[in-house]
Amino acid sequence: MPCSRRTLLQTSLGCTVMAKTAGAMDFAAPDWAEPGDRLSPADHPTETLRARDIIAGAPPILVSPRKPDGELRGSRFSQLLILRLAPTANGPSSGRLLGYTAICSHAGCVVSSWIPGLNLFLCPCHGSEYDPARHGAVVGGPAPAPLPSIPLQDVSGLVEVAGHFSARPGGRTGRTD
Ligand code: FES
Repeated sequence: MPCSRRTLLQTSLGCTVMAKTAGAMDFAAPDWAEPGDRLSPADHPTETLRARDIIAGAPPILVSPRKPDGELRGSRFSQLLILRLAPTANGPSSGRLLGYTAICSHAGCVVSSWIPGLNLFLCPCHGSEYDPARHGAVVGGPAPAPLPSIPLQDVSGLVEVAGHFSARPGGRTGRTD
């Protein structure tokens, strides 16, 4: 029996806290990741993400940055999506560590779902889809801008932020539901 693509493919990231607020608050409370930050899984905030934890082709991991002094950037607006694309995925990003803000550019929800097979981020609030293999490009839904990316590096086996966001993270509009 035919099903919609989302019925077939949508999965939730297991470690996600769903978004409930958005809009102007995105711009008022930036505590974004900075170079040198390490990363902690959102569902295991005392742990530090290792490069080997990022399995190529697996769904993204929702993480919170941790400052070099160990303090957690605990706001949901600080959260990131980390993944490695499968080696078979098209494009130069295959196999590399990729990081994106987890905050939807539409109205600031956490982009908490993943479409396996298509390898797309999915925001559950209004259905925006982003392609991590194409610099976070919007490929569906109302999002007005790509998801900003952030460079990562493997430092002695740990994942570390290596630079700044490609653009200012955060929602561009107020919620509409
Ligand atoms: S907040 Fe993500 S699609 Fe609207």
